[in-house]
Amino acid sequence: MRTIYCGQINTIHIGKQVTICGWVNSFRNFGNIMFIEIRDREGLVQVFFDCNTFKNVFKLASQVRNEFCVQIAGIVRAREEKNINLKLSTGTIEIVADYLKIINKSKPLPLDFHQHSKEETYLKYRYLDLRRLEFTKRLMSRSKISHFIRCFMHNEGFLDIETPILTKTTPEGARDYLVPSRIYKGKFYSLPQSPQLFKQLLMIGGLDRYYQIVKCFRDEDLRSDRQQEFTQIDIEASFLESHQIREITERLIRNIWKHVKGIDLGKFPEITFQEAICRYGSDKPDLRNPIQMVDISDILKNNYFELFKLQINDAKNRIAAICIPNGNQLSRKQINEYEDLVKKHGEKRLIYIKVNKRVDGLKGIQGSIIKFFNQEIVENILIRTKANDGDIIVIIANTIKIITNILSAMRIKLSEYLKISNNIFAPVWVIDFPMFTKDINRCICSTHHPFTAPKADCLNTLSSDPISVISNSYDLVINGYEIGSGSVRIDNFKTQKAVFDILGIPEHEQNIKFGFFLEALKFGTPPHAGIALGLDRLIMLLTNTNNIRDVIAFPKTTAATCLMTNTPAEIDADSLLELGIKIIKK
Ligand code: AMO
Repeated sequence: MRTIYCGQINTIHIGKQVTICGWVNSFRNFGNIMFIEIRDREGLVQVFFDCNTFKNVFKLASQVRNEFCVQIAGIVRAREEKNINLKLSTGTIEIVADYLKIINKSKPLPLDFHQHSKEETYLKYRYLDLRRLEFTKRLMSRSKISHFIRCFMHNEGFLDIETPILTKTTPEGARDYLVPSRIYKGKFYSLPQSPQLFKQLLMIGGLDRYYQIVKCFRDEDLRSDRQQEFTQIDIEASFLESHQIREITERLIRNIWKHVKGIDLGKFPEITFQEAICRYGSDKPDLRNPIQMVDISDILKNNYFELFKLQINDAKNRIAAICIPNGNQLSRKQINEYEDLVKKHGEKRLIYIKVNKRVDGLKGIQGSIIKFFNQEIVENILIRTKANDGDIIVIIANTIKIITNILSAMRIKLSEYLKISNNIFAPVWVIDFPMFTKDINRCICSTHHPFTAPKADCLNTLSSDPISVISNSYDLVINGYEIGSGSVRIDNFKTQKAVFDILGIPEHEQNIKFGFFLEALKFGTPPHAGIALGLDRLIMLLTNTNNIRDVIAFPKTTAATCLMTNTPAEIDADSLLELGIKIIKK
């Protein structure tokens, strides 16, 4: 039906006859001439209709309204100088129409493309919102990136293998979505939170290198970078060490950035989990933000702990400092906001010192607590924080947990003030996470997932002191987003069972949930490691949006519903009966 996409026509087509199909983006009727802008997924083009040359075509064009689906044929010509529109890729040409067919009319759209309607309307009529070129372009980028990834993985010898969707639980920290079995009433399939166990079984099955671009399902609270149904680039390989998995992943990411953005990300730095928390207060630090915390407990020594009313003997307590570059320029209002922020996180007041011009060879400082510091201490704090004239040093004396929470929140808030560009990308590997953490109920749980291997030198203390054990794990973080997560896996029954025991999973439950897997580990398991990258988050970064919904064609709302299809929906009584499910309404 078409010879070319609207957005692809340019000066080389001048004088040529073309046929286009698309939607009416806008129209201007001047009585005897008319301009209609036609849109398809590749872009817009202007079509000119002249009443004197093609009277019938013009007559039909006068009936056209926005969003009608049309087919148009005509000759491409250069626009007059005064009509050139440089904002449009096709802005130097137009088509002189000699044929028009209205394929389908359209009701006036219930939404406008300038985001003036209610958000629910955009989600209800998502298929219309997708016509917005900004959206179309994002989904086209997503398609190209997926294609690029498939080619890369294929060239690296990874096999694209599908794993089941109706399966057993895969613990990744969220609730499972359950699907009732009609045949076995009272029994359920779980939708995979990830293909974790299957990819490990593929390694036991000798497939050596696996990848899959795969949907995962997690019943968890949604955020701007989280959906219940999202896509992973899931990777696993046998006989590779953790640094080799990171090397392949890093090359993949670097190549994507070069291909899509023309940017060389260079070698990704690596920091340990411990360092990340101490320096940035977060295990997913945004390294575009230069603000770091330094420990000044040793500079202020014992009596200052008293000053801050802190228990010196408590290993959980610290005094830390953060230097805010050019912080002197913060307004009183901004400082008040930081004051509120530290209070919100459990600190009584914001203690800060302003670094001024050198006085008598020493840097002068101002601030409420300065009178308590002698010159030597001041100098040492300035050296440790690398502070310069005009900077502000914030001092926090509290437990390590509160300090890191404050630091993390301050870094996020300060990134607005520091005006960090979205066109800079700062990848970092965070490695060596603790194997276990304690949840809010003080129960021990896996920091990653229970199939993550401990570092070899921690194996001896796995059962006796699990909280001190470091795992052979790594996260890829870019601009503060956790883009991927992976680890070396446990490859033997004994360690896997020990981990389940540490997690407090009773033996019969281990057998019910993971018996098949524990059994598989007994048959000559190869050493293996892997990673999963969040494709949606990658596309967010690559297409400059901070909302995951912008990169998914049909996303869910933050309330976990689909307004277009009205999902989740009630099921009729017969279907429930067939599944053996009785709804008890409270
Ligand atoms: P993890 O649970 O960390 O690891 O997930 C891997 C990556 O998937 C992305 N991600 C999400 N993206 C959008 N919405 C969500 N709800 C969501 N949850 C996770 C993140 C994250 O880094 N099986 C392990 C991986 C492995 O060990 O190989 C796993 O799934 O970018």
